Amino acid sequence: RKPDPCVVVIFGASGDLTKRKLLPALYHLEQGGLLPSEIAVVGVARRSLESSFAPDMQDGIIAGGGVDQAEAKLAPFVSKVSYFAMNFDDAGGYERLKDYLAEIDEKFGTKGNRLFYLATAPEYFSDIIKYLGENGMAKPEPCKPGQRATWVRTIVEKPFGHDLESARALNDEVNKVFSEDQVFRIDHYLGKETVQNILVFRFANSIFENVWNRNYIDHIEITAAEAIGIEGRGPFYEQAGLLRDVIQNHVMEVLSFIAMEPPVSFEASAVRAEKVKVWRAIQPIAPENTVRGQYGPANINGKDILGYRQEDRVNPESQTETYAALKLEIENWRWAGVPFYIRAGKRMTKRITEVTIMFKQPPLRLFKNKEGKSDHIEPNFISMRIQPDDGITLRFGAKVPGPSMDIAAVDMDFSYADAFGPSSNNGYERLLLDAMLGDATLFAHRDGVEATWSLITPILENWAKNPMKDFPNYAAGTWGPDASDALLRKDGRKWRKL
Ligand code: BG6
Repeated sequence: RKPDPCVVVIFGASGDLTKRKLLPALYHLEQGGLLPSEIAVVGVARRSLESSFAPDMQDGIIAGGGVDQAEAKLAPFVSKVSYFAMNFDDAGGYERLKDYLAEIDEKFGTKGNRLFYLATAPEYFSDIIKYLGENGMAKPEPCKPGQRATWVRTIVEKPFGHDLESARALNDEVNKVFSEDQVFRIDHYLGKETVQNILVFRFANSIFENVWNRNYIDHIEITAAEAIGIEGRGPFYEQAGLLRDVIQNHVMEVLSFIAMEPPVSFEASAVRAEKVKVWRAIQPIAPENTVRGQYGPANINGKDILGYRQEDRVNPESQTETYAALKLEIENWRWAGVPFYIRAGKRMTKRITEVTIMFKQPPLRLFKNKEGKSDHIEPNFISMRIQPDDGITLRFGAKVPGPSMDIAAVDMDFSYADAFGPSSNNGYERLLLDAMLGDATLFAHRDGVEATWSLITPILENWAKNPMKDFPNYAAGTWGPDASDALLRKDGRKWRKL
């Protein structure tokens, strides 16, 4: 099924996201034959970029890769891209925009259907929503006899609020203007094939789900490590910090897929209900189960890397965390007693997002090695690599050839690229398409964002009250502060070496 004809209206289109992710994703959807031919894209932002916008987007699409014979195929798509300059807090601008979109409908046959994409800085979300409502742009046009009903939907980019209270207030503002079924709170991790594959792995196979519980699993680790720093986003990052930027959303989404019960169907309401149950079953996170870090300067392979406090437009005494590790306990039937350790950080040793499901040791250690010892057996684990080198590894023990019962750890490996070939999917393709189709399964619901903020907000408040004296506490290019290892050590465990 293809989406109905529609206009995708991107607020904040002069930002990086539009050029690097959204336009390449729309282009790939179009090339894949997944969009209707009556489609148009309107970028909206303050600066007057009328003539440079479409060529700039074209550059972004080419830079995104996966583009064949750029000129021939790109030109028809780029001709559907235009730009509209306005201030987000100018009521009059919305009237003009409304007229402009009516012209676009005439020109491209987009039939009054609108997908508004809020990709601005979060402080503009409220104004945009309010003015869309006041100008009658948030509700579909009344249906004319003999014609199909039109629709209006809105995608809201992260961050969705900066704590529980602000997320609730934003939800209220959004729902005053848009009904919940019009709202698509985006988290691009849910667009990643490998994140969706967690559900397929668990619920489309019969061999894993039987062992996916406290009877067999010792603990679970989730790592979201990035080698890059804050990439010139000092002012944003000073406000956000790692916990808000990555853990409240991306890591919590991954965790919910790992931990949720099988939904009764793959409908939005069924999937979202199971996710929310997981988040609500997580016990309040005690301060001693939290670790924060901030990177200091380092020389990596002969290159000087700035510490966070030396980055552009960052307070030289900043208390913002660029690393966090947490121990979570999910108090439900499946997971009681199985700790979930999560960690995420900037400027770590390498980029890797991965989940390790660490299994318990067998009940009896039958095999003794040459030294007569039986503690040489490593536990089984399943490693789900979300990026890069997407794939899944199952580790188990195998007998080392020879006269003794020595056992070595060996891997069974699945690689996405080997099995299915390389992919140019950036996560946004699927989500944009789903929003155009009105399918909210892979988007956050109001209850979901409030549940994750309920977990994160007390940590933020506690950290704000107790500044760190030893920041920076890890060098760029390492695996984070010592306290992160200590968090697992006190439970007799260590992070798996990645
Ligand atoms: C974004 C964060 O949401 O996710 C960034 O704002 C982070 O700080 C990025 O770098 C990570 O996304 P990905 O897809 O590169 O893992």
